Amino acid sequence: MEKVLNAVLEDCRRYTLEGQVASYIPELAKADNEKIGVYVAMKEGEFCAGDWDKNFTIQSIAKTIFLMLAAIDNGIDVVKSHVGVEATGKPFNAIDYGDSVILKEHINPMVNIGAIAVCGMVKAKDNEERFRRLMEFSKKITGNPDLEIDREVYRSERETGNKNRALGYLLKNSGMIYGSVDELLDVYFAMCSMKVNCRDLANIALMLANHGKNRQGEQIIPKADARFLNAVLITSGMYDGSGEFATTVGIPAKSGVGGGIMADCPNRMGIGIYSPALDRKGNSVAGIKMLEALSKEWELSIF
Ligand code: DON
Repeated sequence: MEKVLNAVLEDCRRYTLEGQVASYIPELAKADNEKIGVYVAMKEGEFCAGDWDKNFTIQSIAKTIFLMLAAIDNGIDVVKSHVGVEATGKPFNAIDYGDSVILKEHINPMVNIGAIAVCGMVKAKDNEERFRRLMEFSKKITGNPDLEIDREVYRSERETGNKNRALGYLLKNSGMIYGSVDELLDVYFAMCSMKVNCRDLANIALMLANHGKNRQGEQIIPKADARFLNAVLITSGMYDGSGEFATTVGIPAKSGVGGGIMADCPNRMGIGIYSPALDRKGNSVAGIKMLEALSKEWELSIF
């Protein structure tokens, strides 16, 4: 396994030169676009290559954490009565909702507007508690008790996150979030700024691949929630690149502008990827190439 991982990584290294690191959040522009790493977690063992232990911010992969905890707190049906599950086919930060009231059918938990709504569904008496619960849950699903926030990225997100605030106010205007928009957005920004490495992502993915159980066999999230998450990821986890990704890689996955991709092959493995040079849709270029190669090599596609 490790031999294949190393060969695939070395072969895909050239693609790190084809993308650009995210710069719309100034702090993210400091990433080294030549970094590339991969980690595979299986019940039978763990395998890694390259810069798998380099920390980066989780960014949009946090959207899966909001959805998992909101589903646990409220049940899938209640979540689905607030947000839709149709792929939007639009960029992750789209804001073209005209002047009408936002309909749940038009928002998806894997794009910003839906993720902010779902973040607000995590049960808590206030946003401080919401953040604390999300961090505790993140530590549980990654198996990493040392997770923390990258303060500089968080500050940078907060300073430049006005489009997300606008999305928050659109939701508020439509009665889709309660309480302070700014405080909820702070939770969203902080969670996007959580530092992870490829192993952390691979462990979350392994749990999704194993019907909600971690490697030790502990049921971390309900089986039905893992199935729900995987279905949402296969249709919309890679933004407006999800359809193409389903045809070339064919497994549930979620990307983030920090350069991470979390991908799971049901019943087989969890994969964590890092390579911060992104395509125009916000997905890691070399990361997708590595997943394409691994999918081919190991016949990972679920289709
Ligand atoms: O909402 C934002 O702008 C980011 N903090 C998260 C976006 C993200 O990762 C989109 N990704 N591919």
